[in-house]
Amino acid sequence: MDRDSQVSQFHYDCTNIHIDYDKSRELPSEIVDRWMSVLLSEIDKDEIDRVLDLGCGTGRFTKPLAENFDAFVHGVDPSAKMLQVAMDNYQGLACDFVQGSTDEIPLDDSAIDMVFMSMVYHHVQDKGKAIDEVRRVLKRSGKFCIRNSTIESMDSYYWPHFFPSARAIELRRSPHQQDILDLVSATGFEVVYSTPVQQEFAVNAADYMRKIGLRGLSSLKAISDAEFAEGMKQMDEFFRTQEAHGPIFESIDLFIFSVDG
Ligand SMILES: C[S@@+](CC[C@H](N)C(=O)[O-])C[C@H]1O[C@@H](n2cnc3c(N)ncnc32)[C@H](O)[C@@H]1O
Repeated sequence: MDRDSQVSQFHYDCTNIHIDYDKSRELPSEIVDRWMSVLLSEIDKDEIDRVLDLGCGTGRFTKPLAENFDAFVHGVDPSAKMLQVAMDNYQGLACDFVQGSTDEIPLDDSAIDMVFMSMVYHHVQDKGKAIDEVRRVLKRSGKFCIRNSTIESMDSYYWPHFFPSARAIELRRSPHQQDILDLVSATGFEVVYSTPVQQEFAVNAADYMRKIGLRGLSSLKAISDAEFAEGMKQMDEFFRTQEAHGPIFESIDLFIFSVDG
């Protein structure tokens, strides 16, 4: 396997990232509400009965999707460990969790009204196959939502400045905004929405240090422990030179596509 494949083919089950994933990526409820309200501003919830949370991981967005769209949500992910956390967290909710991936989505043709894919695109090896699979499971006029960092949004994050190897991984595997627009549009989808969304990631510097320190980002998991420790030290020193730091924001791109006819 070449170096590019190694960095982009990160296998969650070969790590223990599932243990602290939720704590390291926890979003305040008003930020989750913000994401849902952007989706609801572009998508008529009355047309959505069945949602696929593709690459659902621990189910961070499964519950808000089920509640805000009043819909049944299928969570699909290749990682048994991430899925187990989701199953433990969301028993009794209008959802199920099944092992699978973008290579072969374990759902029937035209079964789904909306596919939501958060922070998964950069992990997908065969993106053309993935989009064909999404197209297959979507009904006519179904919606495909991609929430992902891009090369363009990378500069809004503090942490990559302190972890050069992790930054290199992100730069190698992250798409440009235009890559996503071009590839998905070429596969029978129309662009409905394409805008970066600002989200509060941490309430202050200490909260930011705590979350990054949990190492819930796959590129931080992929670097050596020594580089991780050095980066944390430098980031701590950086924040100490700053005036008291308020909330820390970051930008994540949201793309919404509609099946074209
Ligand atoms: C950063 S996590 C995102 C989880 C969740 N969507 C969220 O936003 O919290 C990336 C997830 O994508 C999954 N994944 C990786 N490759 C995938 C693929 N080809 N198809 C579906 N999911 C994949 C991983 O197992 C992992 O759970």
